[in-house]
Amino acid sequence: MSEQLIIFDTTLRDGEQSPGASMTRDEKLRIARQLERLKVDVIEAGFAASSNGDFEAVKAIADVIKDSTICSLARANDRDIGRAAEALKGANRARIHTFIATSELHMEKKLRMTREQVLEQARLAVRFARNLCGDIEFSPEDGYRSDPDFLCRVLEAVIDEGATTLNIPDTVGYAIPELYGNFIRTLRERVPNSDKAIWSVHCHNDLGMAVANSLAGVKIGGARQVECTINGLGERAGNCSLEEVVMAVRTRRDHFGLDVRVDATQIVPASRMVAQTTGFVVQPNKAVVGANAFAHASGIHQDGVLKARDTYEIMRAEDVGWSANKIVLGKLSGRNAFKQRLQDLGVALESEAEINAAFLRFKDLADRKSEIFDEDILALVSDEESDQ
Ligand code: KIV
Ligand code: ZN
Repeated sequence: MSEQLIIFDTTLRDGEQSPGASMTRDEKLRIARQLERLKVDVIEAGFAASSNGDFEAVKAIADVIKDSTICSLARANDRDIGRAAEALKGANRARIHTFIATSELHMEKKLRMTREQVLEQARLAVRFARNLCGDIEFSPEDGYRSDPDFLCRVLEAVIDEGATTLNIPDTVGYAIPELYGNFIRTLRERVPNSDKAIWSVHCHNDLGMAVANSLAGVKIGGARQVECTINGLGERAGNCSLEEVVMAVRTRRDHFGLDVRVDATQIVPASRMVAQTTGFVVQPNKAVVGANAFAHASGIHQDGVLKARDTYEIMRAEDVGWSANKIVLGKLSGRNAFKQRLQDLGVALESEAEINAAFLRFKDLADRKSEIFDEDILALVSDEESDQ
């Protein structure tokens, strides 16, 4: 058995922080049911202390979802932590995720606190949370831009207080893969008793590297939890995308050597549900879940895929929840793809000459129309028949 990579989905918390993506209690519950079908390990259901609505959403999810751990975010203070614990009462497995910023910039300009005050508040928050719940995650916000010496002190203190997961956010998406991977590794090496907790990565996508950074945190840094969202939903340029991380670890198991519990066939349904609920459309060329992710348009590729799918596909469309891959017929398509589509449509042209004539008409049409649909082919073939 290989080691497991924990998939922590934060679509309903960090994803919801996207401007315009806020969700009602019922919408969140519907998505949580889909996340449970997807078999994510942890669902961060919201930030219970942030509003009564979010408290009710976290509570409803904790009461209903039984197969995933349910988590609520809480700032590092007793009120937030108490609200989180209250909302999570009905959960089979509950987690409180508490955080405080540790970068100089955030401590000085935002929190207006000294290092020693932040260290003490982190320690007290984890101590308080640990009395209410056995599963405590701690995040030093803006961790990647924090002074490593100070960060090590904070992490050592929260481990001593019983934190079970240490999550290192790249809050503003500033990291570069090797640097982030090495940063996590250094922290793990320097913090005493670091093996008492699971290390987690949480990357934002401001430079388009959230997935690459997260994977470096796993491979180089030894993190065993990835925080991510469906479709990479999240503030600004978004969070690390769940579908990309899961399929990278699955497809390149030779490199990562890790298992994920996720049922990948539920990825596309989850992506559609999140897109429909939030109104955030998925770009067509988005990896794994974009409409073109498994579409082949060039003749050379179509011919290859029809002969052996592995020629141009590293994953199966069906494995992530698409009904099939897609051969898009257009001006770049070859005779083979056209002939295959005729067969799929049940059109039996008698001779090679007939197929050739139909193919010429198809090419002529394709010069005028960017995508040829099955109806166009059927019309084209029936014209062919009536001409004879
Ligand atoms: O990006 C971030 O720093 C966060 C923390 C609250 C974990 O979302
Ligand atoms: Zn975040």
